[in-house]
Amino acid sequence: MRRRNVGGWGRRVGIEIKTPEQFAVMREAGLVVARALRVLAAAVRPGVTTAELDALAEAEIRGAGATPSFKGYYDYPATICTSVNEEIVHGIPSPRRSLREGDIISIDCGAIVGGWHGDAAVTVGVGDISPEHARLLQACETALWRGLVQARAGGRLGDISHAVETSAARCGRYGVVEEYTGHGIGSAMHMDPPVPNYGRPGRGPRLRPGMALAVEPMLTLGSPETVLLDDGWTVVTADGSRAAHFEHTVAITGDGPWVLTAEDGGLYRLGGTTPLGRDPSPQDPPGPPTGGNLPPVTPGPY
Ligand code: MF3
Ligand code: CO
Repeated sequence: MRRRNVGGWGRRVGIEIKTPEQFAVMREAGLVVARALRVLAAAVRPGVTTAELDALAEAEIRGAGATPSFKGYYDYPATICTSVNEEIVHGIPSPRRSLREGDIISIDCGAIVGGWHGDAAVTVGVGDISPEHARLLQACETALWRGLVQARAGGRLGDISHAVETSAARCGRYGVVEEYTGHGIGSAMHMDPPVPNYGRPGRGPRLRPGMALAVEPMLTLGSPETVLLDDGWTVVTADGSRAAHFEHTVAITGDGPWVLTAEDGGLYRLGGTTPLGRDPSPQDPPGPPTGGNLPPVTPGPY
């Protein structure tokens, strides 16, 4: 979401606290999003249009008995955001945009079940992509998971932000977009607090059981500066460099992070640190949600 007043929250921020029952419904929404993204990622190939992906997303979400959250949000016209190459976030699907071999596309998807939200995004390559672009995607996904592993009760929001920033810096010379942030999520898609992709450990609101956050790093191959296109939505890099965007909705529980929009709840990437007594369901595939082979992450010093 668009950055606003980052750092100015002090202790007056009211962050929504969910009950375990409400988390269970958010998990349903998260699984709808996760499964839709899996289907969408598999449908990405040269020649497919972003409008076709959007139609597929709407069918998946409604077929699961859920409601797309983006459609109609401030008059946004589609079910997903499809952001290709130098587009960072909020690209609008179009029947005129055919994907080409070598492109990269961020697909951002949100769904509502019983009034509760899930929100997640992945960036995938179209056909074969260059090693440089593959590394950009991997750096962004790694930064996301480095942030998610910090979504622990007793920590601070800045621990997540700092972990994302530090991970990105360790992976290479990437631009870390600051003009858009992650966000609290629950009974609405965008709630307090904003979740910047940079920050200082030990700062910001205390993380408590019952909070849920959407963590969403955006990395570029060049400058982190952004430009909003005339359509009022599409955010592109100012220098035309390509960008990646990954996002998950994570619940903070007394037992650790629960990645609501990962089919395995984060079990694979977070190792033993995730509270998965209730998950995964038998029909979910094992392994990492985006089909990559990134290693598990563990909480570590930054
Ligand atoms: N998931 C996106 C975000 O958090 C929201 C998309 S904006 C919408 O920034 F209008 F498309 F919904
Ligand atoms: Co979001």
